[in-house]
Amino acid sequence: MPDKPIDTWKTVDDFFAEALVAPDSELDAAVTANRKADLPAIDVTPLQGKFLELMIRGTSASRVLEIGTLGGYSTIWMARAVGSGGQVVTLELDPHHAEVAQRNFKQANVDDRIELRLGPASESLAALVAEKSAPFDFIFIDADKSGYPDYIRRCLSLSRPGTLIIADNVVRDGKVIDPDDPDPNIRGVRRFTELVAAEPRLSTTVLQTVSSKGYDGFAISIVLP
Ligand code: SAH
Ligand code: DHB
Ligand code: MG
Repeated sequence: MPDKPIDTWKTVDDFFAEALVAPDSELDAAVTANRKADLPAIDVTPLQGKFLELMIRGTSASRVLEIGTLGGYSTIWMARAVGSGGQVVTLELDPHHAEVAQRNFKQANVDDRIELRLGPASESLAALVAEKSAPFDFIFIDADKSGYPDYIRRCLSLSRPGTLIIADNVVRDGKVIDPDDPDPNIRGVRRFTELVAAEPRLSTTVLQTVSSKGYDGFAISIVLP
């Protein structure tokens, strides 16, 4: 057994990923393309991608919204999960990330069911509300953590009772518990937590996670009737 916790987490992550996630040339190619294009290695892990897939299939979601595309690794997992009749709308600020993602979507043959909207997520969300977009069944929040308070408010306008909302990276190595941390990402996650706690339309829990990418967690909310 490796003695540093992060090494143990990585070894165990690899063990379960190898046992449970089938080898997949399209997903592997997306990760390789992302690293080649110098995108930060902050894609969800394979086991977490599969977690998103299971949540989507388990709720029969067919309209999915993602905030924060990066190279689209998580997007491909979710686009497969919604099936050929489903749709994923994914929001990305950085044109380089968006370009890499679009290539990955084509290569994985899911570009027909993904709509990527380029620009600040708050503006894209406002546009979706203004367009009277049909409600989403499942929402994955994974962009800048400082924006989470704004995103959760806007997501409520794009939801229906039963919509499942998962927000990534709410633990941040445990930094979330420090009320004086000046990092806007930490402040964002703390404010997000206050908002979901006070929001009568949401019921929320948090799952702390460890993985090859360290110590973090998901906030999981359901929109109440
Ligand atoms: N969901 C991806 C990882 C997303 S990383 C995956 O698991 O594969 C976070 C992404 O959010 C980055 O690509 C970053 O450029 C984007 N982002 C940051 N600020 C943003 C904003 N204000 N609006 C939209 N996207 C933003
Ligand atoms: C960061 C962002 C993420 O979405 C993630 O999964 C891990 C780290 C970051 O900005 O550091
Ligand atoms: Mg993340």
